[in-house]
Amino acid sequence: MKTNLPLDADRLWTDVMALADITDPAKPYTRRSFTALFLEGRAWLAQRFAEAGLATRLDAAGNLIGRIEGNDPALGVIAIGSHSDTVPSGGRFDGIAGVATGLEIVRALRDSGTRLDHTIEIVDFLAEEPSEYGLSCVGSRGMTGSLDETMLALTEPSGETLRDALRRVGGDPDRLDRARRDDIRAFLELHIEQGIVLESRFLDVGVVTSIVGIRRLEIVFQGEADHAGTTPMNLRHDALVAAADTVIAVRRLAEQLAAEGPDYFVATVGILAVDPSASNIVPGRCRLVIDARTTNPALTARFVDAIDRDSAAHAAAARVARASFKTLSDGPPVACDPKLREALQQGARDLGLGQMDLPSGAGHDAAFMSRICPSAMVFVPCLKGKSHAPEEWADRDAIAAGAAVIYQAVKELDRSLPRSR
Ligand code: GLV
Ligand code: MN
Ligand code: MN
Repeated sequence: MKTNLPLDADRLWTDVMALADITDPAKPYTRRSFTALFLEGRAWLAQRFAEAGLATRLDAAGNLIGRIEGNDPALGVIAIGSHSDTVPSGGRFDGIAGVATGLEIVRALRDSGTRLDHTIEIVDFLAEEPSEYGLSCVGSRGMTGSLDETMLALTEPSGETLRDALRRVGGDPDRLDRARRDDIRAFLELHIEQGIVLESRFLDVGVVTSIVGIRRLEIVFQGEADHAGTTPMNLRHDALVAAADTVIAVRRLAEQLAAEGPDYFVATVGILAVDPSASNIVPGRCRLVIDARTTNPALTARFVDAIDRDSAAHAAAARVARASFKTLSDGPPVACDPKLREALQQGARDLGLGQMDLPSGAGHDAAFMSRICPSAMVFVPCLKGKSHAPEEWADRDAIAAGAAVIYQAVKELDRSLPRSR
């Protein structure tokens, strides 16, 4: 246990656990963006922000922001944050640990009587995880001017548009320009690693070098629903057969591209929706969403071309139509800011923590924030690298150590960020 940390590990842990407790009891740990539970979590967070002395508001992109004014407001903002939404049946730490870290840093500064020159903001970004509307990082896209009309027109299965959902949770899709920021001078995010590198090397923190680019593709195969008992095999138009061939093609192609090296490439079909999905009906319609990630966008371009060709061929072979082949989102890989990384590395050294540099295979709000300001991340180890699952676990002291590194970096950046206005 680290005893020399400049913040209160127990207070931070209590917040992480309390927010994690706001979950669908039937599916721990689930707090999907745009749901009543999500809003309950946010109300709890807003209360904690207020107790910590933060002025709290929602911006037009639906981000919950707590703010504490610096000595010199003209210097701009150092922002810290992550997200409070989860994947379905996710964990207690993904996103939550980063938001709670920001909150604890503000309290620790207050407790030590420190008022920084820069204004500090804690941001709970809206819908970092892919939402039911097919889009991830909704809030950080909005804050960085990257949430466009096509995205706002996306719908969830019952037909609500993202535009309407954003309004429903307190954002203002008609005034997204108001969410766009040009006053943030640095953004820092703590996150669990979601991999096994730190744990296997017994290291306390990872300073992130880069964040993968993510492309999400939607394919819809349209066949004909028919009686499963009476429709002869040679007369079927089975949409799932085409989709199944495409799932296999995604896997094979991703394996090939990953094996080429040295670039990172992975691809997953995580959504396969079969309609009408009954045991005695030939599937009439099938929707897939492919998630492809890389450090080299040229690989994704090759992947998409090949899947375009292959899925058209799979449709033809199954005698169904390929009703849709579209990109839902496409974010390039991003390098974290060298000056911020140096501040984090120095912070870890000052605290006597074991550290290394490492890339991120997961997407994060920091990737979008880097479009408008220098951004960087700290990873902390998580048990067996497991994440996006209920078994996700990070130790109290591991989170506190990572949070302390950000605390040190914030104080250093407050001194060393360029002061031109
Ligand atoms: C975010 O959790 C991601 O999908 O990487
Ligand atoms: Mn996640
Ligand atoms: Mn996350």
